[in-house]
Amino acid sequence: MPMVPTISDDALAHALADYRAATPGSAALFEKAAQRLPAGVTSNVKFFAPYPLYMTRAEGARVWDVDGREYLDYCLAFGPLVTGHGHPRVLEAVRAEVERAGTLIFGAPTDLEVRLADRLARLLPSAEMVRFTSSGTEATLHALRLARGATGRSRVVKFEGHYHGVHDHVLWNLDQPLPPKAAADGIPMATSAQTVVLPWNDVAALDAGLDTADDVAAVIVEPVARGVLHPDPAFLHALREQTTRRGIVLIFDEVVVWPRLGLAGAQGLYGVTPDLTTLGKALGGGLPLGALAGRRDLMSLTVPRAGRAPGTQTPYVFHGGTYNGTPIALAAGLATLNILEEPGVLDRLDARAAQLRDGLGAIAARHGIPLQVLGRGSVMDFYFTDQPIHSSREVWASDLPRRRALDYRLLVAGLYNAPVHRYHLSLAHSEADIALTLDRIERALTA
Ligand SMILES: Cc1ncc(COP(=O)(O)O)c(C=O)c1O
Repeated sequence: MPMVPTISDDALAHALADYRAATPGSAALFEKAAQRLPAGVTSNVKFFAPYPLYMTRAEGARVWDVDGREYLDYCLAFGPLVTGHGHPRVLEAVRAEVERAGTLIFGAPTDLEVRLADRLARLLPSAEMVRFTSSGTEATLHALRLARGATGRSRVVKFEGHYHGVHDHVLWNLDQPLPPKAAADGIPMATSAQTVVLPWNDVAALDAGLDTADDVAAVIVEPVARGVLHPDPAFLHALREQTTRRGIVLIFDEVVVWPRLGLAGAQGLYGVTPDLTTLGKALGGGLPLGALAGRRDLMSLTVPRAGRAPGTQTPYVFHGGTYNGTPIALAAGLATLNILEEPGVLDRLDARAAQLRDGLGAIAARHGIPLQVLGRGSVMDFYFTDQPIHSSREVWASDLPRRRALDYRLLVAGLYNAPVHRYHLSLAHSEADIALTLDRIERALTA
């Protein structure tokens, strides 16, 4: 029987036709790119159908594509650019470091690493010691290995809908609920026995899951799922209590939310201190930088054998990476922190995001549209449903085709983001930019 098209299918078809008409330059470049780069991209996250927009230039809160179209940018490179594109102080710090050092990389430690590690230790409750990586993926990979090395156990607990990067043990149930399902092919079958997936924000399911799973080394969790779904505080406290009782390493993946929920991260906000924390995105101010931070006794397991006192019996866990902590990434990260630590700066950023969230909620109320607006700090997301959203399950049950259709209309209207993705804000987004954004959203929603 032929499928009856829904209103959303029709809306999506129209939005896609308008998108194609507005972006012929990206369509042409995609044709060429896809000959050499699968799907015309170098990261699957950057692809969206029928083709992504190819960008050429950016300034502050704005980006321009190959067709010369201007967009207000709410993707912000999927989060890192908390000060906006090309903040003069961040660019100057990178320039100055290249000129001072005379190189892009030493392959030897530098004073910048010590300074940024000190800053993190001062800001983040869990960060007694720090190691830098080049990405969030590497940070979570090393955190899991450290937990395994420390406990001598193998299994890892993660939650439905939580993303921790691209490695085998965490690429599970990204966009669907249990039963356990790898998000793509190529993950070894043996991994399925090592990864335990549990529902998020559900204390009873957590208790039952940890009761039945043995050999658990770590629980890895986005303390605020998808960057915008805030947990019942009792869930985070239960996580801390349960993992401590069972000798399991608790890892908070704060790659998205630090420092967007405050410089003490979600752990500061909720008063729950994990054993290890992973950072990335904004940490490098737009350059590749991640970090693994945590308890001194755990982090010390990475000290090479040659650096240990004779007779030391603790496990040895390997951590490495040619590009870990390059001077320019550290300089950009430190410059970004210098800006964010100035009094009132994060409050101003949060106020802009609140203006966007409140404005969107008011538009939905005005037009009788069932919409849930999510997030705190400088991240925001929204889904079409009249049901409150407590976990990814309710996101998946919302009217995603309607959201997708809206997002293509917004691309045509000059708001840039990957479709059905959370919004990030930056210091460069002005009050007037938010007003313009709300106007564009209201027109697109009611078109
Ligand atoms: C919560 C979370 N953890 C880890 C990662 C992986 O970071 P990266 O893309 O830098 O490897 C991401 C990326 O989006 C993320 O959102």
